[in-house]
Amino acid sequence: MILITGPTGKVGQALIDALLAKGAAFKALARSDASAKALEAKGVAVVRGELSDLASALKGIDTLFLLSSSADPYAAEAPAVAAAQAADVKKVVKLSAYGAHADAANPFFRGHARVERLLEESGLAWTSLRPSFFMQNWVIYNAAAIQAGQPVYANAGTGRMGSIDVRDIADVAVAALTEGGHEGRIYDLSGPESLSQGEVAAKLAKLLSRDVAYVPVPDEAAYQAMLGMGMPADYTWALVTLNQAVRRGLADFTTQNVQLVTGHAPRAFDTFLSENLAAFQA
Ligand SMILES: NC(=O)c1ccc[n+]([C@@H]2O[C@H](COP(=O)([O-])OP(=O)(O)OC[C@H]3O[C@@H](n4cnc5c(N)ncnc54)[C@H](OP(=O)(O)O)[C@@H]3O)[C@@H](O)[C@H]2O)c1
Repeated sequence: MILITGPTGKVGQALIDALLAKGAAFKALARSDASAKALEAKGVAVVRGELSDLASALKGIDTLFLLSSSADPYAAEAPAVAAAQAADVKKVVKLSAYGAHADAANPFFRGHARVERLLEESGLAWTSLRPSFFMQNWVIYNAAAIQAGQPVYANAGTGRMGSIDVRDIADVAVAALTEGGHEGRIYDLSGPESLSQGEVAAKLAKLLSRDVAYVPVPDEAAYQAMLGMGMPADYTWALVTLNQAVRRGLADFTTQNVQLVTGHAPRAFDTFLSENLAAFQA
C-alpha cells in the first residue's frame, strides 16, 4: 500500500488524480479536517497525521511518497524518513528539487540534498525526483498581477528555466511508486523547453492579445518587496537566492526523463498557458 504525503498541494493533487486514473491502491495523509474532506470527496482513503509524527499513518504502508513544503526540507522530512525506517516501509519516492546540492547557496536545495543523503544511507529503497520550476507557479504567483495589467517582477534577470507541468512530475511519480526499476535513481525533470520569464510573458501576451510585461529587478528590491508583503525574512531570502540561481543559468536545462520514464513527451508551456488562460484574464 502506498501513502501520499502533501496530497492537497500542487504536485499532490496531480499525483492523486494520476493514481486514481490508474486505479492504484493508495492512501493520502491529511493534517486537517478541510484537507481530509476534500480528499474523501474524490474517493481517496485518508489517514490523519503530520509529517513530524508518521508512525501510526505508516501502519500497513510499504511505499511512501515524501513531499514537504517547508523552507527547511531537512527539518520537515528527516522525522518522516526515521519513521519509515522504523515501520515496514520498503521504498520512498522523494519530491526533491533541481539544484539539490550540499553546497548550494539556496537553503531549499541544501535541505533537499541532505534528505537525499539520508535516504541513501537509510537502507530503504529510494527514488528522488528533482523537478525544475513548476509551470503552475505562473497561475499561483503571477496571475493576479497579470489580471490587473501589472508587470511581473522578479530578480531572475534573463535567466532561462526548463519549467515543468506538475502533471508530468505526477506521471513520473506514479511510475516510480508502482513499478520496479527506479530504485537508486535521481531523475532531473523538466518541460520540453527552457524559457526566460520574459519569454513566457511574451507567449502569454500573444495568447491574451495584450501586453504582459516582465521586469527584472535587483535582488535587494525583490527582497524588500517580499518583506513588505509580510513574508518571513529567512523564507524571503530563500526565494531571492532561487532566482539568483536562475539568473546565473543554473536552471537553463532540459532533460529527457519525463519521456524516458513515462513514455510520453512533457507538456509544453504553450499548452499549459492555453489551458489556463482564464486565470490570467480580468
Ligand atoms: N514550486 C516549484 O517551482 C518547485 C520546484 C521544484 C521543487 N519544488 C519542491 O516542491 C515541494 C512543494 O511541493 P508543492 O508545491 O506541491 O507543495 P504545496 O502546494 O505547498 O503543498 C504542500 C502539501 O504538503 C502538506 N503539508 C505541508 N506541511 C505538512 C506537514 N507538516 N504535515 C503534513 N502535511 C503537510 C500540505 O497540506 P495542507 O493542505 O494541510 O496544507 C499540502 O498538501 C517543496 O519541497 C519544493 O522545494 C517546488
